[in-house]
Amino acid sequence: MRTSILGKDGPSVPVIGFGAWPIGGGMGTVETNDAIRTLHHALDRGVTLVDTAEAYRSSEETIGRALQEWTGKREQVFLATKVRGSDLSRAHIMEAIEQSLRHLRTEYVDLLQAHSWDSRHPIEETMRAFDDLTQAGKVRYVGVSNFDVSQMRAAWTVRPFHSLQPRYNLLDRQIEGQILPYCLQQGIGVLAHSPLAKGLLTGKYNPDTVFPPDDERSRMARFSGEELRRHLTTAVRVQQWAQARGHTLVELAIAWVLSHPAVTVCLCGAKTPQQVDDHVRAAEWRLTVEERAEVDRLLGPA
Ligand SMILES: NC(=O)c1ccc[n+]([C@@H]2O[C@H](COP(=O)([O-])OP(=O)(O)OC[C@H]3O[C@@H](n4cnc5c(N)ncnc54)[C@H](OP(=O)(O)O)[C@@H]3O)[C@@H](O)[C@H]2O)c1
Repeated sequence: MRTSILGKDGPSVPVIGFGAWPIGGGMGTVETNDAIRTLHHALDRGVTLVDTAEAYRSSEETIGRALQEWTGKREQVFLATKVRGSDLSRAHIMEAIEQSLRHLRTEYVDLLQAHSWDSRHPIEETMRAFDDLTQAGKVRYVGVSNFDVSQMRAAWTVRPFHSLQPRYNLLDRQIEGQILPYCLQQGIGVLAHSPLAKGLLTGKYNPDTVFPPDDERSRMARFSGEELRRHLTTAVRVQQWAQARGHTLVELAIAWVLSHPAVTVCLCGAKTPQQVDDHVRAAEWRLTVEERAEVDRLLGPA
């Protein structure tokens, strides 16, 4: 697996990360044994960066079990988790990290991220608590998620950090204007989330698809009606471009995310070993600048 450096002076990480929201049950039920088998397969294939969160239901506990049963060593895995953005107070951060460590069955996490901006608590309090956890050896690196530029500036002033985790895919390109250039200039690593637009960029859904009630997509506007139709039309357009070059839509979606110079890691959600294999294959395709420009033209303005 190809690797990249996280931030200016961070660790070497694989460019494909295992997004662990689906195995927590957020996109429909995944049996624990299937989740563990999928995660083991990912780790064996070099997808050794695992992204989870306090808020990802059973995800942390499943990962903890999987890591204990894995034949490799804990140090080979880069474990990233998040504290929920609804409470980034010092008290909650200290409680949350203890719970995450317990669930993950580990003594440290490699990356602790603020899941989103918390307007109820000062960022100084959050970043100082994060810093204290690095001093205590419970956290190796610190990051933020879903922050805009002004929020990143405010956090950076208190304590420099290694990564941003924003949503980025062929259908969601809003961060290209300011956020990605800021990360590039500041040396902040980018872990892009939802690269497959939660399945819209896989080619397997159509306007009549109905998601079960325990799947978050059953409640998302973009997975029904006119919005769904519009996104699927775009997906088909770029899928044809990929297929003409011997690639699948999934491969294009991931390779395209990785082709942005600011992106360090593409966090792919997977429910099966086969899906992991598709993600690994995608990382082998390196889009040229010209190919990327062609795809961008097909997409239209961001
Ligand atoms: N920081 C944040 O706020 C935030 C938000 C969202 C996600 N994330 C992170 O980013 C990760 C990735 O995002 P995501 O999991 O939400 O969505 P995603 O990666 O865009 O899509 C994942 C889903 O697409 C389908 N899929 C994946 N690979 C496939 C393949 N090869 N062929 C066909 N279908 C495939 C699977 O669902 P089906 O098989 O059911 O279609 C899978 O659950 C998350 O797991 C999480 O770690 C972070």
